[in-house]
Amino acid sequence: MAEFTLPRHAKVKEGKTHKAPAGTKNIHRVKVYRWSPDGDENPRLDTFELDADNCGEMVLDALLKIKDEVDPSLTFRRSCREGVCGSCAMNIDGTNTLACIKPLSEIKGDVKVYPLPHMDVVKDLVPDLTRAYAQHASIEPWLQADTPSAPDKERLQSPEEREKLDGLWECILCFCCTTSCPSYWWNGDRYLGPAALLQANRWIEDSRDEMTGERLDALDDTFKLYRCHTIMNCAKACPKGLNPAEAIGNIKKKIAVRQS
Ligand code: SF4
Ligand code: SF4
Ligand code: FES
Repeated sequence: MAEFTLPRHAKVKEGKTHKAPAGTKNIHRVKVYRWSPDGDENPRLDTFELDADNCGEMVLDALLKIKDEVDPSLTFRRSCREGVCGSCAMNIDGTNTLACIKPLSEIKGDVKVYPLPHMDVVKDLVPDLTRAYAQHASIEPWLQADTPSAPDKERLQSPEEREKLDGLWECILCFCCTTSCPSYWWNGDRYLGPAALLQANRWIEDSRDEMTGERLDALDDTFKLYRCHTIMNCAKACPKGLNPAEAIGNIKKKIAVRQS
């Protein structure tokens, strides 16, 4: 998994320490980034000592325990707790990943939890994804075809055509990849980033979609697509094992073949 520095959080100060109850034998020390639009100690790293013998296995379990039993103001996103909704993406132990599938046992020493890097923070562990969602919307992530579908039938694909979507459809839009990409850190206002581009490739590769040419035209842009320099952080960060860099390479290749 990729590790990277977190310049936006470089000046985080030590905050409050919430001690475990006296007599607790096994302790998880969880250090959590805190930032609040109403707070006057921004940003800070609060320490929570949890009874490890009465805590679930995953980092999300620890965060829920903190919220339920220690500090209800701690704010983070989560929904499925099964690694399928993408809501609980955050930076844990220096790596972007999903809190609900990150075992506490894999972390040596204190558990350090930050929001996804290089995004504005709404509160605590909640990044502002407004721009990332707008970039996803810009690639028009839905099937587009002029040919009307038969009234009594789905649009069919051969098994080979369907297979081309493997490695693409599984994306849960967690943005672990996008927020690990140095090109996105520096040019995120114009570069679409690996998550949106992998989704773009998903529709380019879909045999039922009839707008491939228009989709490639829209992406053929110095900043939107070609800011990817194949650094590969995205593939290392993806908690679903996907390879956005390869998807981006495929789009570039399709544009190049078209021009030759
Ligand atoms: S391969 Fe491209 S998208 Fe992936 S981290 Fe590198 S620059 Fe970003
Ligand atoms: S490609 Fe992977 S890391 Fe990127 S948004 Fe999709 S699931 Fe998340
Ligand atoms: S809560 Fe849905 S992916 Fe973690």
